[in-house]
Amino acid sequence: MIEVQNLTKSFRMNKKYPGFRGALKSFFSTEYTLKTAVDNISFTIQDGEIVGYIGANGAGKSTTIKMMTGILTPTSGEVRVNGVVPYEDRQKNARDIGVVFGQKTQLWWDLPLSETFTLLRDIYEVSPQDFEERMAFLDEVLELKEFLLTPVRALSLGQRMRGDLAAALIHNPKVVYLDEPTIGLDVVVKENVRKAIQKINATYGTTVILTTHDLTDIEELCSRIIIIDAGKKIYDGNLAHIKEKFGYMSSVEFLTGSPVLPEKVEFIRSLDPEYLELEYGENRLQVKFNRNNTSTTEITRQLMGTLDVLEFSIKETSIEDIVKKIYRNEV
Ligand SMILES: Nc1ncnc2c1ncn2[C@@H]1O[C@H](COP(=O)(O)OP(=O)(O)OP(=O)(O)O)[C@@H](O)[C@H]1O
Ligand SMILES: [Mg+2]
Repeated sequence: MIEVQNLTKSFRMNKKYPGFRGALKSFFSTEYTLKTAVDNISFTIQDGEIVGYIGANGAGKSTTIKMMTGILTPTSGEVRVNGVVPYEDRQKNARDIGVVFGQKTQLWWDLPLSETFTLLRDIYEVSPQDFEERMAFLDEVLELKEFLLTPVRALSLGQRMRGDLAAALIHNPKVVYLDEPTIGLDVVVKENVRKAIQKINATYGTTVILTTHDLTDIEELCSRIIIIDAGKKIYDGNLAHIKEKFGYMSSVEFLTGSPVLPEKVEFIRSLDPEYLELEYGENRLQVKFNRNNTSTTEITRQLMGTLDVLEFSIKETSIEDIVKKIYRNEV
């Protein structure tokens, strides 16, 4: 079980003064301002849960994960992971957790992946039988064989991420923290990574804390989400609830050859009351709608006949959209 109680982290930042002289003054100054990255957050996660920890850029996700994994010490509040306080007992904690920071690899750059794995085996004192069984499982879910002997620096991003995931799981940790494990991956690799996470959770009952900006990751993996904004927790609950109210929102953006006139916009609005939101600029119109009520094809068909459309693109719902909705009390 993971218990997070009133967790807060403030960073000291040297007070900034403008200009070159200002920069010098800042450098030697003892004055500072505080930036509160995580602000009084509490939650409990049960064994075997997959929880999505989401929020906009800079919301405080990575800072929370760093305190949960023992990399950072909180300013106040507490974390306990199966009774262990991670930043106080880092070694004990490390035996039971795995971590992936998608934005930077933890693999040894110049070594083939296979050697990273044997090093980790020795560090974590994994027995030869356990190691073999574990590698077989990881190879099955992540398909590592084809690049096991390649130096990490020569791996593609997708291969590297699969390697990072495997490295985090070699010692069969009870809890894994995955901070953006699908960042920058193509659709196929993303899907493989998701399946692997699912399978690891189902097979070993591993608890997973996942941060991501990809809503599909959340939809496919998490039954529970915690949303944070500006360091504060703004939602903790079931994903079905969010989806029911909002999750099926889609949007299509149309670029037009001639200006989008207000009369046209009113006309489009009257076509179908299911258009939830229309946003337009001079040669641009964005339609946000609920996929439960209508389809992208239907919307596009209607608008093609009304506007002088040059091109259109389909946009995925963003985490930011959901955060905005929560503020407007629509969820
Ligand atoms: N070491 C640090 N010193 C000062 N400020 C920091 C430090 N680390 C993070 N911050 C600030 O704390 C806030 C939260 O950062 P954090 O990395 O936790 O966000 P995040 O939710 O992970 O964002 P992203 O989605 O971009 O990864 C940001 O404003 C960031 O600039
Ligand atoms: Mg982050």
